[in-house]
Amino acid sequence: MGETIRFGVSLDSDLLDRFDSLCKEKSYQTRSEAIRDLIRSMLVQRQWESAEGEVAGTLTLVYDHHHSGLAQKLTELQHDHHEVVLSTMHVHLDHSNCLEVLVLKGPAEAIKSLGQKLISTKGVKHGNLCLTTTGQELA
Ligand code: NI
Repeated sequence: MGETIRFGVSLDSDLLDRFDSLCKEKSYQTRSEAIRDLIRSMLVQRQWESAEGEVAGTLTLVYDHHHSGLAQKLTELQHDHHEVVLSTMHVHLDHSNCLEVLVLKGPAEAIKSLGQKLISTKGVKHGNLCLTTTGQELA
């Protein structure tokens, strides 16, 4: 980690007011912490877009396990890409609905592709891929 540098930012007062309201709403203690998070988000986004190096993410799926062959299909897809699936958690939400959370790590393209295949599988009610970072290139 490098040394801490202070720098000035010029911006419109209305924009600053809106930023301060947002910081308060999101419970940031200081503007600096909010700006650091914005910068980190942009760097993580770039990592996903550049398709270089490893990224990490979580995929959440909700589906009805009574749907014919669905659970088996989802398991097969995960086995086909086992090299990027680090862990899975399965929760029985109620009599019919299951919630599954997958922890993924690997090349961005491979993770996005697997995520899209799982989310678009017939019978999956909702799916969401949350893109994050392995943390190695962020201070
Ligand atoms: Ni279940």
